[in-house]
Amino acid sequence: MSAPLSVNLSSLSATEALGRALAQLCVPGRQLCLEGPLGAGKSTLARTIIEQVCGPQSDIPSPTFTLVQPYDALAGHEVWHMDLYRLTTAQDALALGIEDAFYNAACLIEWPDRIAVLLPATAVTISLSIIGSNSRRAEILALEQDQAIIADALGSHPV
Ligand SMILES: Nc1ncnc2c1ncn2[C@@H]1O[C@H](COP(=O)(O)OP(=O)(O)OP(=O)(O)O)[C@@H](O)[C@H]1O
Ligand SMILES: [Mg+2]
Repeated sequence: MSAPLSVNLSSLSATEALGRALAQLCVPGRQLCLEGPLGAGKSTLARTIIEQVCGPQSDIPSPTFTLVQPYDALAGHEVWHMDLYRLTTAQDALALGIEDAFYNAACLIEWPDRIAVLLPATAVTISLSIIGSNSRRAEILALEQDQAIIADALGSHPV
Protein backbone atom coordinates (compact mmCIF):
# COMPACT_ATOMS: atom_id res chain seq x y z
CA MET A 1 0.00 0.00 0.00
CA SER A 2 1.23 3.50 -0.77
CA ALA A 3 0.12 6.72 0.97
CA PRO A 4 -3.64 7.29 0.72
CA LEU A 5 -4.94 9.20 -2.29
CA SER A 6 -6.60 12.33 -0.91
CA VAL A 7 -9.45 13.87 -2.90
CA ASN A 8 -11.24 17.12 -2.02
CA LEU A 9 -14.98 16.86 -2.68
CA SER A 10 -16.14 20.45 -2.64
CA SER A 11 -19.65 19.64 -3.90
CA LEU A 12 -22.08 16.77 -4.35
CA SER A 13 -21.11 16.58 -8.02
CA ALA A 14 -17.46 16.08 -7.02
CA THR A 15 -18.51 13.12 -4.87
CA GLU A 16 -20.52 11.74 -7.79
CA ALA A 17 -17.46 12.12 -10.05
CA LEU A 18 -15.43 10.13 -7.51
CA GLY A 19 -18.16 7.47 -7.52
CA ARG A 20 -17.92 7.16 -11.31
CA ALA A 21 -14.13 6.80 -11.00
CA LEU A 22 -14.46 4.17 -8.26
CA ALA A 23 -16.83 2.22 -10.51
CA GLN A 24 -13.68 1.11 -12.38
CA LEU A 25 -12.90 -1.09 -9.39
CA CYS A 26 -16.45 -2.40 -8.93
CA VAL A 27 -15.71 -5.83 -10.38
CA PRO A 28 -16.17 -9.37 -9.01
CA GLY A 29 -13.82 -10.19 -6.16
CA ARG A 30 -13.33 -6.56 -5.16
CA GLN A 31 -14.59 -4.89 -1.99
CA LEU A 32 -14.97 -1.13 -1.70
CA CYS A 33 -15.25 -0.15 1.97
CA LEU A 34 -17.06 3.15 2.53
CA GLU A 35 -16.16 4.67 5.90
CA GLY A 36 -17.16 7.90 7.59
CA PRO A 37 -19.65 9.40 10.03
CA LEU A 38 -23.41 9.73 9.53
CA GLY A 39 -24.11 11.97 6.53
CA ALA A 40 -20.56 11.79 5.19
CA GLY A 41 -21.72 10.58 1.78
CA LYS A 42 -21.20 6.80 1.91
CA SER A 43 -24.62 6.02 0.40
CA THR A 44 -24.23 8.84 -2.13
CA LEU A 45 -21.02 7.21 -3.36
CA ALA A 46 -22.58 3.74 -3.34
CA ARG A 47 -25.59 4.92 -5.36
CA THR A 48 -23.40 6.63 -7.96
CA ILE A 49 -21.24 3.53 -8.34
CA ILE A 50 -24.33 1.28 -8.65
CA GLU A 51 -25.86 3.45 -11.39
CA GLN A 52 -22.55 3.60 -13.25
CA VAL A 53 -22.06 -0.18 -13.12
CA CYS A 54 -25.69 -1.40 -13.27
CA GLY A 55 -27.37 1.39 -15.26
CA PRO A 56 -30.05 3.84 -14.06
CA GLN A 57 -32.20 2.48 -11.21
CA SER A 58 -35.71 3.55 -10.20
CA ASP A 59 -34.78 3.14 -6.52
CA ILE A 60 -31.60 2.44 -4.59
CA PRO A 61 -32.82 1.87 -1.04
CA SER A 62 -30.45 2.01 1.91
CA PRO A 63 -30.27 -1.62 3.09
CA THR A 64 -30.45 -0.45 6.70
CA PHE A 65 -32.62 -3.36 7.85
CA THR A 66 -31.97 -6.02 5.20
CA LEU A 67 -28.21 -5.23 5.51
CA VAL A 68 -27.64 -6.39 1.92
CA GLN A 69 -29.15 -5.32 -1.40
CA PRO A 70 -27.92 -7.12 -4.54
CA TYR A 71 -27.92 -5.57 -8.05
CA ASP A 72 -27.11 -6.97 -11.49
CA ALA A 73 -24.22 -5.22 -13.21
CA LEU A 74 -24.48 -4.57 -16.95
CA ALA A 75 -21.37 -6.79 -17.27
CA GLY A 76 -23.32 -9.75 -15.81
CA HIS A 77 -21.94 -10.07 -12.30
CA GLU A 78 -23.67 -9.07 -9.06
CA VAL A 79 -23.01 -5.94 -7.04
CA TRP A 80 -23.83 -6.22 -3.33
CA HIS A 81 -24.58 -3.00 -1.49
CA MET A 82 -24.22 -3.58 2.25
CA ASP A 83 -25.09 -1.26 5.12
CA LEU A 84 -23.78 -3.06 8.19
CA TYR A 85 -24.55 -0.34 10.74
CA ARG A 86 -26.97 -2.65 12.56
CA LEU A 87 -24.86 -5.80 12.35
CA THR A 88 -24.09 -7.02 15.86
CA THR A 89 -21.40 -9.62 15.23
CA ALA A 90 -19.17 -10.39 12.26
CA GLN A 91 -20.45 -13.96 12.58
CA ASP A 92 -23.95 -12.77 11.58
CA ALA A 93 -22.49 -11.49 8.32
CA LEU A 94 -21.41 -15.00 7.39
CA ALA A 95 -25.08 -16.07 7.50
CA LEU A 96 -25.80 -13.39 4.87
CA GLY A 97 -23.41 -15.16 2.48
CA ILE A 98 -20.84 -12.39 2.38
CA GLU A 99 -17.85 -14.72 2.00
CA ASP A 100 -19.32 -16.05 -1.24
CA ALA A 101 -20.07 -12.47 -2.31
CA PHE A 102 -16.46 -11.45 -1.63
CA TYR A 103 -15.36 -13.86 -4.35
CA ASN A 104 -18.22 -13.78 -6.86
CA ALA A 105 -19.66 -10.28 -6.58
CA ALA A 106 -18.40 -6.72 -6.30
CA CYS A 107 -19.13 -5.44 -2.79
CA LEU A 108 -19.85 -1.88 -1.65
CA ILE A 109 -19.69 -1.95 2.13
CA GLU A 110 -20.94 0.82 4.44
CA TRP A 111 -19.75 0.44 8.07
CA PRO A 112 -17.06 -2.13 7.13
CA ASP A 113 -15.61 -1.92 10.68
CA ARG A 114 -18.40 -4.35 11.66
CA ILE A 115 -16.69 -7.11 9.64
CA ALA A 116 -13.06 -5.98 9.90
CA VAL A 117 -11.92 -9.51 10.81
CA LEU A 118 -13.50 -10.97 7.66
CA LEU A 119 -12.34 -8.42 5.08
CA PRO A 120 -9.74 -9.54 2.52
CA ALA A 121 -6.45 -7.62 2.76
CA THR A 122 -6.93 -6.34 -0.79
CA ALA A 123 -10.13 -4.45 0.10
CA VAL A 124 -10.11 -0.79 -0.96
CA THR A 125 -10.98 1.71 1.79
CA ILE A 126 -12.59 5.06 1.03
CA SER A 127 -12.70 7.12 4.20
CA LEU A 128 -14.94 10.19 4.03
CA SER A 129 -14.76 13.20 6.35
CA ILE A 130 -17.19 16.08 6.62
CA ILE A 131 -15.44 19.40 5.98
CA GLY A 132 -18.49 21.66 5.65
CA SER A 133 -22.18 21.53 4.71
CA ASN A 134 -21.41 20.66 1.08
CA SER A 135 -17.78 19.77 1.37
CA ARG A 136 -16.21 16.37 2.05
CA ARG A 137 -12.76 14.81 1.81
CA ALA A 138 -12.01 11.27 0.70
CA GLU A 139 -8.87 9.34 1.65
CA ILE A 140 -8.53 6.30 -0.56
CA LEU A 141 -6.32 3.46 0.60
CA ALA A 142 -5.67 0.79 -1.98
CA LEU A 143 -2.89 -1.04 -3.74
CA GLU A 144 -0.72 1.35 -5.73
CA GLN A 145 -2.05 0.12 -9.08
CA ASP A 146 -5.67 0.58 -7.90
CA GLN A 147 -4.96 4.12 -6.69
CA ALA A 148 -3.48 4.83 -10.13
CA ILE A 149 -6.67 3.52 -11.80
CA ILE A 150 -8.79 5.83 -9.64
CA ALA A 151 -6.52 8.84 -10.19
CA ASP A 152 -6.58 8.23 -13.96
CA ALA A 153 -10.37 7.88 -13.98
CA LEU A 154 -10.73 11.09 -11.95
CA GLY A 155 -8.44 12.85 -14.39
CA SER A 156 -10.35 11.72 -17.46
CA HIS A 157 -13.77 12.54 -15.96
CA PRO A 158 -13.17 15.91 -14.27
CA VAL A 159 -15.92 17.38 -12.11
N1 LIG B 1 -19.83 16.90 -1.25
C1 LIG B 1 -20.81 16.07 -0.82
N2 LIG B 1 -20.66 14.73 -0.94
C2 LIG B 1 -21.61 13.88 -0.49
N3 LIG B 1 -22.76 14.25 0.10
C3 LIG B 1 -22.96 15.57 0.23
C4 LIG B 1 -22.01 16.52 -0.21
N4 LIG B 1 -22.49 17.74 0.07
C5 LIG B 1 -23.69 17.55 0.65
N5 LIG B 1 -23.99 16.27 0.75
C6 LIG B 1 -25.20 15.73 1.37
O1 LIG B 1 -24.83 14.95 2.49
C7 LIG B 1 -25.71 13.85 2.61
C8 LIG B 1 -24.93 12.56 2.58
O2 LIG B 1 -25.81 11.53 2.90
P1 LIG B 1 -25.48 9.99 2.68
O3 LIG B 1 -26.76 9.27 2.95
O4 LIG B 1 -24.80 9.76 1.39
O5 LIG B 1 -24.45 9.76 3.88
P2 LIG B 1 -24.03 8.43 4.61
O6 LIG B 1 -22.58 8.56 4.88
O7 LIG B 1 -24.49 7.24 3.84
O8 LIG B 1 -24.83 8.53 5.98
P3 LIG B 1 -25.47 7.37 6.90
O9 LIG B 1 -24.33 6.80 7.71
O10 LIG B 1 -26.43 8.14 7.76
O11 LIG B 1 -26.14 6.37 6.02
C9 LIG B 1 -26.71 13.93 1.46
O12 LIG B 1 -27.87 14.57 1.91
C10 LIG B 1 -25.97 14.78 0.44
O13 LIG B 1 -26.84 15.52 -0.39
MG1 LIG C 1 -25.65 5.49 4.27
